[in-house]
Amino acid sequence: MGSIKNCIINKDTKYKPIWLMRQAGRYLPEFREIRKNNTDFIKLCLNKELSTEITIQPLKRFNFDAAIIFSDILMLPYGLGQNVTFEKNLGPRLGNVELDKIIQISDESFTKTLENVYALVNNVSKHQILKNKDLIGFAGAPWTILLYMLNKTSPKKGLSKSFYEDKKLINTLLKIIVKFLKLHIKNQVCAGATIIQLFDSWAGLVNEKNIEEYIYNPTAEVVDYVKDLKVPIICFPRNIKDYKKYVLMTKPDAISIDYSINPNKIIDQIEIPIQGGLNPKALLCNLDELKKETLKYLNIFKEHPYIFNLGHGVVPETSPGAVEYLVKLVRDFK
Ligand code: CP3
Repeated sequence: MGSIKNCIINKDTKYKPIWLMRQAGRYLPEFREIRKNNTDFIKLCLNKELSTEITIQPLKRFNFDAAIIFSDILMLPYGLGQNVTFEKNLGPRLGNVELDKIIQISDESFTKTLENVYALVNNVSKHQILKNKDLIGFAGAPWTILLYMLNKTSPKKGLSKSFYEDKKLINTLLKIIVKFLKLHIKNQVCAGATIIQLFDSWAGLVNEKNIEEYIYNPTAEVVDYVKDLKVPIICFPRNIKDYKKYVLMTKPDAISIDYSINPNKIIDQIEIPIQGGLNPKALLCNLDELKKETLKYLNIFKEHPYIFNLGHGVVPETSPGAVEYLVKLVRDFK
């Protein structure tokens, strides 16, 4: 039987598994229905019954090879006591970092704050719908978490020069983030996650001279740790300039590429299993165009271990019918 794990661990090239980033979310009417009555996003993530239901919603509709837990990378700062809210059309808003309080947080109290996230993982892992499928746990990469904690909102206009000023704060915080990321991932694996994906959504924003210190080194430390837990780890350093160097420096089990990457070039540069790439906007095109783009990726990666996915998350305007068609294209590909 083909699976994501078989693709990553045994480098299987015959079966092309598929799941999508943000496969649970606003493009699904059944998600919007739940969301309508649950306006506090963090509370929703901590509601183990509803987050279990949301996690399996896409699997009820589509024959995906994995579920990804319905949670958020910002649950980590929340677990560290930082205030986190989501405002409509604005995205996430975080409160101030109170380092004196953060350094006092114990492993036990962090785990307790997020216990419902781990209960959700456990619920889903036991669900019948996941038989022979993987359950993907995830976390933000150290750099992206650091960036949200200090910038306190999505850096849509980039980072100011002053972001890098307080080196002491950055270095202290990075160490704390790495420590709790490991714990957060371990808790998910103990609860039943079979694969971990690390989202470095803002990897492309780092100052080139800081890339080793803020991206390569802390990520390599987390990757090493996850390998010891004996679950594969997929890294997604969105918009990073040099994927080849990133793979060399951090050594993930698989690498997820964004849609700016030329698949014809990357296949000659990277030997490990590759995931993703298709522009999420392809799902908004007519079906012929979607078919053309999908077959392009499938043909290029025919002889390479490849997990079908997008180059970033499903956008809310996507119609579920387009996703259904995409899954069929991947399943029927020979
Ligand atoms: O299906 C899945 O992929 C699982 C669920 C998931 C969510 N967030 C749920 C969510 C995952 C894997 C994430 C990761 C995440 N969260 C990332 C990394 C991936 C990426 O997109 O680059 C980041 C940067 C975040 C932080 C975050 N969460 C932002 C910037 C936003 C607001 C932006 C937006 O789309 O409105 C969120 C909110 C969020 N996380 C939603 C969902 C379904 C939308 C919430 C809503 O219903 O309003």
